[in-house]
Amino acid sequence: MNIYFAPLEGITGYIYRNTYNMIYGHVDKYFAPFVSPSEKSPMTPRERKDVDPGNNAAINLVPQILTNRSDCFIDAAKELKSMGYSEINLNLGCPSGTVCAKGKGAAFLPETIELKKFLDDIYNYAENNSTKISIKTRLGYYHPDEFYDLVKIFNEFPICELIIHPRIRSDFYKGDVRMEYFTYALEHSNAPLVYNGNIFTKEDYDELPDKTGTVMLGRGLISDPSLADK
Ligand SMILES: Cc1cc2nc3c(=O)[nH]c(=O)nc-3n(C[C@H](O)[C@H](O)[C@H](O)COP(=O)(O)O)c2cc1C
Repeated sequence: MNIYFAPLEGITGYIYRNTYNMIYGHVDKYFAPFVSPSEKSPMTPRERKDVDPGNNAAINLVPQILTNRSDCFIDAAKELKSMGYSEINLNLGCPSGTVCAKGKGAAFLPETIELKKFLDDIYNYAENNSTKISIKTRLGYYHPDEFYDLVKIFNEFPICELIIHPRIRSDFYKGDVRMEYFTYALEHSNAPLVYNGNIFTKEDYDELPDKTGTVMLGRGLISDPSLADK
């Protein structure tokens, strides 16, 4: 069983990650809050500082990219590769209004034709540049049943890990998770799965479906930093 620290923009920056790791540890991978590449630049100076390997030397860090443009993704992936990162995460889950208004994050999920083309481009880049790409996704934008088509699409690509937060966009981070869709993924996904959502206690973890291996913890680790140890 592996434990990953979820990216929490505005909270789990490099100072938080390093301090957490020094005091508590027991985390196998930390995911950096997203960098949002633009046509002008793959990263802002602030984003670059957060993923700078010199600021993350003691931890196993996976940077995350938020975009719906494959050229911007690839530009950022190239810069991250030059910094030494050979694994990158794609954000397909962010529910925030400003992100979704631009068609990124969870708002990219229903655009299945564009999404497939985007994934074709970035996995083609990844294959030729010894890079692994994982995906962090929701079940869909409007309705959880969008997930059935998404699993079919994801199954066409060599996703190194598929991290599933089993909610739709309008759920934001509230209410019960839709565990039956994660169970569906356990049966039908080709990619190794990571479960994410509402694990606040060891008991919450114990109730996950039997085949769940790796979990990603966010607010649970913030509110109880010794949760990973437990
Ligand atoms: C304040 C805040 C910031 C977040 N920032 C990101 C982010 O940058 N990238 C991302 O993929 N998810 C982000 N998330 C979602 C979390 O990574 C995680 O999926 C969510 O909190 C559900 O997991 P949890 O119930 O364990 O907290 C954010 C969530 C919150 C509450």
